[in-house]
Amino acid sequence: MEGIKFNQIGVSFKGSGSYVPDQILTNEKISQKVDTSDEWIKSRTGISERRISSLGDNVTEMGYAAALSAIEMTNWDIKTIDLIVLATSTPHDLFGSAPSIQAKLGAYNAVAFDLTAACSGFLFALITASQFLKGGSFKRAIVIGADQLSSFVDWNDRRSCILFGDGAGALAIEATNDFDNFLGFDMRTDGARGSFLNLPSKDNKDSIIDNIDFLNGGFSQIQMNGQEVYKFAVREVPIILDNLFRKTNYSSDEVDWLLLHQANQRILDAVGDRLKIPREKILSNLAKYGNTSAATIPLMMDEAIRNNRIQQNDIIATSGFGAGLSWGAALIKWG
Ligand code: UT7
Repeated sequence: MEGIKFNQIGVSFKGSGSYVPDQILTNEKISQKVDTSDEWIKSRTGISERRISSLGDNVTEMGYAAALSAIEMTNWDIKTIDLIVLATSTPHDLFGSAPSIQAKLGAYNAVAFDLTAACSGFLFALITASQFLKGGSFKRAIVIGADQLSSFVDWNDRRSCILFGDGAGALAIEATNDFDNFLGFDMRTDGARGSFLNLPSKDNKDSIIDNIDFLNGGFSQIQMNGQEVYKFAVREVPIILDNLFRKTNYSSDEVDWLLLHQANQRILDAVGDRLKIPREKILSNLAKYGNTSAATIPLMMDEAIRNNRIQQNDIIATSGFGAGLSWGAALIKWG
């Protein structure tokens, strides 16, 4: 796709889709593996079960299914899609999974690439794609969040393995020239606190020939300081959203839905309380899926759109946060 200058000013939200693997891992089943209980997990996190990928449910397949479902909600000819951005930290191919999704969709006119920002990834990808649209380079984009953290969870670590699940979600967005439903955004990174949550490479030293070393590829497992990540989220997310409300001249009363990265029900409730957003406006599907990393926001959005909770012109305040540390917020109007 060439970057042709169109006369565009805004973004419109046209479709949503999602996909989760069939395999269900309940709290009861996890407690057969590590020393925990359904009661502990539910009361500390709000999670009851999560989906786990099996063979065939990798990020490319899950992202493709979510993207196809989002495109089906529009009346787009697939050849008119200009851009596909896949947010993931667990690609099926380290060189990028978005190109495989482009090929499977038959979206041959789209440029497609991956973007990595862990649990903030979908929001960062949505903001990135929106800038191409608002800048007048591209007209139609698919933004996907898909992750398969089950492959990198330490299934013997009860402090972290209870949180995560697999899945994918996607939005179809289009440039407009007479209104803008992407009302504002903000993004932050603090690499100095990165050690609170990471998934480092293994760096196993090996040798090619005598005196010439190389490092074998491969990754270790998720390492998390849960308490620090919790404190970071409940402090920074209200601040970034509050600043965004100020910047866009919206108030939290005007928000129809608070859609946060689904990490822990206690984080969702604490952020809602700080912003004085009532519980009935806080979207949550944590109980069914746990934390699916880059997939949580579009997975939740798709569910709320398909069951008619989110309606045309509803105002959604959304925020992603997690490893990096990274966090971001966006204010959007659906439609
Ligand atoms: O996308 C971002 C991803 N990360 C997050 O969102 C993490 C945010 N943090 C959290 O959600 C919470 O910190 C956790 C759910 C991870 C942990 O909850 P907590 O209330 O902060 O528990 P804690 O780490 O303070 O541990 C309290 C106790 C400890 O026992 P002692 O030392 O007080 O005897 C833990 O050993 O709970 C114990 N514990 C468990 N017990 C049963 C920790 N994990 C478990 C478990 N089952 N799964």
